Amino acid sequence: MAPRLGRTVMKTREWIGRFVAVPLLCVTAALMAGCGGGSSSSSSSQAATPAFSVSAGTYTTPQSVKITDTTAGATIYYTTDGTTPTTSSAAYSTPISVATTTTIEAMAVVNGYTNSSVASATYTINLAQAATPAFSVSAGTYTSLQSVVITDSTAGATIYYTTDGTTPTTSSSTYDAPIPVATTTTIKAMAVSSNYASSNVAAATYTIDLPAAPAIASISDIHQGFIYQIVTDRFFDGDTTNNNPTESPDLYDSLGFTDPSAANWNYYWGGDLAGITQKLAYLQSMGVAGIWISPPLANIRVNAGSNNGYTGYHGYWTRDYKQIDEHFGDDSNSWTAFDALVTAAHADNIRVYVDFPANDTNPTGAGEDGSLYDNGTLITTYSTDTGAVPYYHHNANVNDWTNRYQVQYYTLEGLADLDQTNPWVDNYLKEAVRLLLAHGVDGFRFDAVKDVNWGWQYSLENFIANWNGASSPARAAGQPFVFGEWDEGSGDTLYPDSVKFSNNSGMNLLDYTLYWQLVDVFASDKNFSEIDNELTLEDSGTSSGQAFTQPNDLVTFFDNHDNARIMSQGADQMAVKQAISFLLTCRGVPVLYYGDEQYLHNDTDSGDTPYNRNGMSSFGSTDAVLLIQYLAALRASNPAVAYGTMTQRWINDDVYIYERHLGANVVLVAINKNKSTDQAISGLYTYLPPGTYSDYLAQTMGGTGMTVTGTTDSNNPVTNFTLPHRSVSVWVSSGSVPPSIGSIVPRVANPGTTITVSGTGFGASTGTVNFTVGSATVAAQTTQWSDGQVTAVVPEIAAGSAQVTVSQGTATSSTAPFQVNTAALIPVNFSVSSVPSLATSDAVMLTGNLAELGNEATTWNGAVGPVTIPSTGNGLLTVSVPAGSTLQFKFFVLHSDGTVTSETSYHSYSVPISGVGTEAVTW
Ligand code: NOJ
Repeated sequence: MAPRLGRTVMKTREWIGRFVAVPLLCVTAALMAGCGGGSSSSSSSQAATPAFSVSAGTYTTPQSVKITDTTAGATIYYTTDGTTPTTSSAAYSTPISVATTTTIEAMAVVNGYTNSSVASATYTINLAQAATPAFSVSAGTYTSLQSVVITDSTAGATIYYTTDGTTPTTSSSTYDAPIPVATTTTIKAMAVSSNYASSNVAAATYTIDLPAAPAIASISDIHQGFIYQIVTDRFFDGDTTNNNPTESPDLYDSLGFTDPSAANWNYYWGGDLAGITQKLAYLQSMGVAGIWISPPLANIRVNAGSNNGYTGYHGYWTRDYKQIDEHFGDDSNSWTAFDALVTAAHADNIRVYVDFPANDTNPTGAGEDGSLYDNGTLITTYSTDTGAVPYYHHNANVNDWTNRYQVQYYTLEGLADLDQTNPWVDNYLKEAVRLLLAHGVDGFRFDAVKDVNWGWQYSLENFIANWNGASSPARAAGQPFVFGEWDEGSGDTLYPDSVKFSNNSGMNLLDYTLYWQLVDVFASDKNFSEIDNELTLEDSGTSSGQAFTQPNDLVTFFDNHDNARIMSQGADQMAVKQAISFLLTCRGVPVLYYGDEQYLHNDTDSGDTPYNRNGMSSFGSTDAVLLIQYLAALRASNPAVAYGTMTQRWINDDVYIYERHLGANVVLVAINKNKSTDQAISGLYTYLPPGTYSDYLAQTMGGTGMTVTGTTDSNNPVTNFTLPHRSVSVWVSSGSVPPSIGSIVPRVANPGTTITVSGTGFGASTGTVNFTVGSATVAAQTTQWSDGQVTAVVPEIAAGSAQVTVSQGTATSSTAPFQVNTAALIPVNFSVSSVPSLATSDAVMLTGNLAELGNEATTWNGAVGPVTIPSTGNGLLTVSVPAGSTLQFKFFVLHSDGTVTSETSYHSYSVPISGVGTEAVTW
């Protein structure tokens, strides 16, 4: 139909046509019953033609058109698509909004009237066009990170943009904050506003050519680098022959790496030890100093069913701790691929830390029912474990995480729970650990240490510290480094137990308590005070809780295989890079979860397990990889990052400025996470000496330089400056005096054990390492001496808390804590019956005449315990004590006010020279 512009027209011709077309039959029938078209009589009058509130015409804004009809009771039918309205058309009820050129046609229908003529009006809408968006940064080539602000001069306009070269639509991202541009990117933007036509698309290409990071110096201790966590099955398939092994067929999904959306995430995907070996160059290029690999040991060989998660691809369903899993190595479960990895990694100065699940084997009641093999020989299953000294605990799943007995003796996730104090299990697990050490590993990540018998783990730590494979790299300086997983928050009832456990056993802990704050801040944009408060609590303690004695040994992380990646929890790429910046400059040994540098994430099921165990999809360079290279270079070259103190210098919700400091080494880090607001910084003080500092990261994170004035050592004023939004700046100064100790590995050991003292300013020539226990000071024999690292032998000195110093000439370092054991430790199960009735806040403790028993202290920190309470009136506590010693011990109740109700006299006990001891007494 030709448009009828500018007029309301009665469609007389069509009306006549329709009248003529009405069949005769209908005309007759209509006399009785009415007919289609609504007229009840051929002689009735016609309804009035509808009227439009807005005249047909051309407009520059959208119109709202009302339709009225003067005939009472009229129903108005209308169309907007150029067709003639009928009673099947839309019935008019509310004004019609006309935003584009439209013809409205309307007809009134009233009972007892012939239908009205059709009114028609065409509205030509010529909207003004929204202004084309403008970019704050001109297209071009840049050598630093850019932050592009997009503005639009049309009031109320929404800006939609893309960064992938496609044309923006209203489904594209909505602009709400400056866009960080760290890699070559084309931004396209369009403005949309009501009353306006969409703007033209603005486009700008930013070619980003960030400067390469400084070379990463070779390091001699893991603190100077970082650990990269790998789920072996999901990293790289280096050997396709082991994907579907004959001894455990059909647990493999070939779609894993190629089509994850179609794959079963609980099956093996093909990644293996050979795959890691083949990707070492990639890891080395990032400055990776160590890899933590998921447990490589032999898992169950059958499908455990949907209730249990199907397969042991993750490595935590061990059946044999002395063999390598056929999916990760070869069909004969040999160590060949493992050895090749360790050898190649060491050649690249990359340490290998093996995840070791000492708490549990594999699912009960499914799969292989908790099968346990000793290098191929079946020892037991869970159901057949009915001997007098069972291999497993046979308890329910833990349901009370505040109950020390449940946590250590009950079942975790339906997995057969090993009794580490069964003498066979004790020996077997330690043999397996020794086997790994003999195969050259540099340390361990012990799984679920909260759930493993705590007291037994003191003997495990001691066993590792005493291991003497002289030729193994595991005895190289700074090795073995051992850390464990105690999954907790710092508000948990058992948090103080974890601190005491780590301090006294020497088992470093994954810093789970800090982890929660990192997720809050970097994924959910919570305030930096969360991190700052947590660090204060962990490193300095509170009046009611103790602090970790060596915070730089805590193992920090913001992603892992058990929690959704932060990108699945709200972090974008810039937030990930800020998290990386924090992690690699915070105190502690950082662990970076594989794939974070490639922005790997899958948000199915909110990214929770198993969707956090993604197949590694690329090994290229990204801006995150570049950032890691910068920070690895910094960690390797400046001992303040590896070993220094960490002090907050300036903080608000979005800005965190903190300082690492050791001797004359200072690293000041400033993070502004606000997406659009630059922050004026005044009142900032630093250890940095006076001078002008450029950003160590060379503006690759949008940072800035600044100037320090003043003359004091610890409190020099920084000239006021502005910290750009979403930036990270790092300012660095280095020097090598005075002697300063950063870490001691291991930090709990017997006399005779070789330890590594790392730090700075020790001097080039041999100085002195002193151990002080109580009033006695004994010099240690040193076996290697360099400015940043000394190896020494723990001297013959009374056991207990020691203070270690390093002296060079007349200068002596401040003290570092160390725990001297009496001798090699073996676990003893001390049990007691007839325990007095206890108030809820009471703790049963144990004390005795040896350092390992608390040297007769009767305080919570000084004595051993708390003792677990398996049932009312009974206590059970495993304590690792010197083999072959004769000791005196007694139990006591520690009340919340610090008073004590004690056994009246000591018991005497002779510790066996090997194995596991048992001693039962009555209170
Ligand atoms: C903790 C590990 O990190 C987790 O992945 C595993 O499922 C449990 N331990 C049980 O072994």
